[in-house]
Amino acid sequence: MKIHIQFSTLSAFILRILFSSAEPLSRSSAAKAVVLPLETQEIKSPPPPSKLPFTHNVTLTVSLAVGSPPQNVTMVLDTGSELPWLQCNTTRKDRPVFDPNRSLSYTPIPCTSSTCTSQTRDLSIPASCDSKNLCHAVLSYADASSSEGNLATDYFAIGGSRFNGTIFGCMDSGFSNNLDEDSKTTGLMGMNRGSLSFVSQMGLKKFSYCISGSDFSGILLFGDSNFTWLLPLNYTPLIQISTPLPYFDRAAYTVQLEGIKVSETLLQLPKSVFEPDHTGAGQTMVDSGTQFTFLLGPAYTALKNEFINQTARILRVLEDPDFVFQGAFDLCFRVPLNSTAFPKPLPSVSLVFNGAEITVSGDRLLYRAPGEVRGNDSVHCFTFGNSDLLGIEAYIIGHHHQQNVWMEFDLEKSRIGVAQVRCDLAGQRLIAK
Ligand SMILES: *[C@@H]1O[C@H](CO)[C@@H](O)[C@H](O)[C@H]1NC(C)=O
Ligand SMILES: *[C@@H]1O[C@H](CO)[C@@H](O)[C@H](O)[C@H]1NC(C)=O
Ligand SMILES: *[C@@H]1O[C@H](CO)[C@@H](O)[C@H](O)[C@H]1NC(C)=O
Ligand SMILES: *[C@@H]1O[C@H](CO)[C@@H](O)[C@H](O)[C@H]1NC(C)=O
Ligand SMILES: *[C@@H]1O[C@H](CO)[C@@H](O)[C@H](O)[C@H]1NC(C)=O
Ligand SMILES: *[C@@H]1O[C@H](CO)[C@@H](O)[C@H](O)[C@H]1NC(C)=O
Ligand SMILES: *[C@@H]1O[C@H](CO)[C@@H](O)[C@H](O)[C@H]1NC(C)=O
Ligand SMILES: *[C@@H]1O[C@H](CO)[C@@H](O)[C@H](O)[C@H]1NC(C)=O
Ligand SMILES: *[C@@H]1O[C@H](CO)[C@@H](O)[C@H](O)[C@H]1NC(C)=O
Repeated sequence: MKIHIQFSTLSAFILRILFSSAEPLSRSSAAKAVVLPLETQEIKSPPPPSKLPFTHNVTLTVSLAVGSPPQNVTMVLDTGSELPWLQCNTTRKDRPVFDPNRSLSYTPIPCTSSTCTSQTRDLSIPASCDSKNLCHAVLSYADASSSEGNLATDYFAIGGSRFNGTIFGCMDSGFSNNLDEDSKTTGLMGMNRGSLSFVSQMGLKKFSYCISGSDFSGILLFGDSNFTWLLPLNYTPLIQISTPLPYFDRAAYTVQLEGIKVSETLLQLPKSVFEPDHTGAGQTMVDSGTQFTFLLGPAYTALKNEFINQTARILRVLEDPDFVFQGAFDLCFRVPLNSTAFPKPLPSVSLVFNGAEITVSGDRLLYRAPGEVRGNDSVHCFTFGNSDLLGIEAYIIGHHHQQNVWMEFDLEKSRIGVAQVRCDLAGQRLIAK
């Protein structure tokens, strides 16, 4: 089904994002990785220079208005999932909700509609009919929780433009197990390549975001990002697989990882380690809905060993086999509580793709485990985790490692462009336009 949205009338507009430092993890579709309250702005009508206070932790959050009259909602930006959804159960007072009964333009989708019958095929559980013959959706999350509700359409107003007929899940029950995160946002904006994602519904050809590494701001841009000050972007093709495979998420933004470097040392790994196998296991996804980065066992182990080796004189490994941060991060270090910085610069870690590279350096390599103290030391964990420990069959590039990288998703040319930039400055630059 075609959605009646003309994105071209907008040209590029940006959303200003404010977000806070991160905390917990839970897998994407279900998962959040970073939290941002954000403010929508059109480039042509610059926002006031003041920044919004941030309210959230581990997710990139955009603010928009839904329904008529409009209700303000916040949605987590998630390139790792498809269906946009809002929490609609108004009897829950512990979280922000969208109240469909207060929107004159709210229209539930009947289950006979082709939207319900054919467009939900990419969802992990296809939609069904409820007792009122409305389209019933069930979303399942990697943390084994699920939520249920009706598919519906309504007005979505973003950046000063309104879109009628945006399809979303109006969820009544469930929500993810991650209550802390859930309680702060109204819903999730699925941005993957599936037909019901926000990106697909708007017919977007390109979008970009840039997450600041120095403050809690970020920029989301719909449209072209070929600004002269940003160029050149380095591009890596998106991988498409035409046949369905059990472990391959075809709607994800999948890129080809070719190697990992610690400083200039390329890990000695065969390329096949980074290639999906015949079941589809082993794809590499770019996921704004997951906080940290996960690597399959063999790559993780090689990286871990090399990092330990290169930091042997700088960092003291936490010798505690029982401590695994968030279930996947088993390389942690003891850092004296009284030190404000690491004594020596840490070696950088580079993810090498076909045509592009993302380099992670400095503080972003380690994350302080909240509340963990050993003697006079705090515990800091390596921000690359082991997918095997979580039972995930994929490499996932989380948003923590996308900080200060301009991330362009070019759907038309099926590629992802990256450029190492100061995202706080890029944001100021765009907003000043
Ligand atoms: C981040 O989240 C944690 C746990 O949910 C909470 O304890 C902390 O106060 C939050 N920080 C901010 C700045 O919101
Ligand atoms: C919704 O957000 C806008 C812009 O931030 C604000 O002006 C308006 O008062 C908000 N409306 C409600 C009902 O909170
Ligand atoms: C909307 O109103 C109907 C009829 O009064 C009620 O059954 C339903 O629970 C309401 N839905 C919400 C989300 O409040
Ligand atoms: C918006 O969409 C609804 C449902 O698809 C439709 O009934 C309504 O007429 C539309 N409104 C406008 C202004 O296009
Ligand atoms: C809404 O939430 C309440 C409280 O959690 C729950 O008891 C109720 O079953 C939910 N409503 C629906 C329609 O799922
Ligand atoms: C950016 O792209 C647009 C549309 O593709 C094109 O018209 C414009 O000339 C490009 N600008 C630069 C600086 O390359
Ligand atoms: C660590 O580096 C040294 C010197 O480069 C090398 O001999 C040793 O094999 C390395 N150890 C591991 C575990 O890679
Ligand atoms: C931290 O404490 C250690 C040992 O107690 C001491 O040697 C070091 O100088 C202190 N560092 C700072 C920055 O105070
Ligand atoms: C912690 O630091 C204090 C003050 O420097 C010192 O007296 C104490 O022994 C240290 N404790 C441990 C467990 O190292």
